[in-house]
Amino acid sequence: MTENITSTADQIRARLGGRHPRLAIILGSGLGALADRIENAVIIPYREIDGFPQSTVSGHKGALICGTLAGKEVLCLQGRFHLYEGHHPSVINRVIKILAALGITGLIVTNAAGSCRPDMGAGSLMLINDHINFSGSNPLTGPNDEALGPRFPDMSDAYTADWRSRIHRLANRNGLTLFNGTYLMVSGPNFETAAEIRAFQTLGADAVGMSTVPEVICAVHSGMKVLGLSVITNLGTGLKSGVQSHAETLAQAEKASADLIRLVTDFVKELN
Ligand code: HPA
Repeated sequence: MTENITSTADQIRARLGGRHPRLAIILGSGLGALADRIENAVIIPYREIDGFPQSTVSGHKGALICGTLAGKEVLCLQGRFHLYEGHHPSVINRVIKILAALGITGLIVTNAAGSCRPDMGAGSLMLINDHINFSGSNPLTGPNDEALGPRFPDMSDAYTADWRSRIHRLANRNGLTLFNGTYLMVSGPNFETAAEIRAFQTLGADAVGMSTVPEVICAVHSGMKVLGLSVITNLGTGLKSGVQSHAETLAQAEKASADLIRLVTDFVKELN
């Protein structure tokens, strides 16, 4: 595994033109616009990287974008890899390990999510303070390479506490409401039933989505700091009338993306 990761990382590094980002940002459904803010960007489509997985979902473009955001070098993943696309969970570990090999030590993950709380409606922003892995799988399953991370990673500070305090301060300063909550991951691709949303409320979930958790597990395994932000695109099934749709998810994510972009940009600006 290590050899493969190193050669893919070398191939990416060769195209970064001397940029050395330490922060990576994974952009969720409808949130790709953050990448447009990146200056002096080099864009590397996933398909041009040997052995890199491809993203197949509409609203997810499929490119690495490296450049400057708020004066800091960042590496954006515009397009992520979902289990429902048929990717093996270990694919996500490979991608995160490639980031680690490139020198990434911090990860910001963004996603679109459904709300389990009637008071947290579409258009809200939620800081993920913890997660529940309800996906039925784990990206670290299989042999562990101790050189890349521990067999049994500790998850007690998976969403780095001081990064969470920092983003709350920034939200306050900007007059933005930032909810705080637990994100529960399902594998998807179907939206939940009303009974599932009720069950997830009982389990302690504030939001539900189909991504993020594998990336965070792998980032923690790699010793990275993590910040997770959800854009709430809809109330969970049963908490509103009408049906759920991906089109609505994309439309709401785009609407709320201005707030998210401002928050993430401010956060990046203040990082050392
Ligand atoms: N459920 C799961 N994933 C989602 C939802 C939802 O309601 N909305 C956006 N992503």
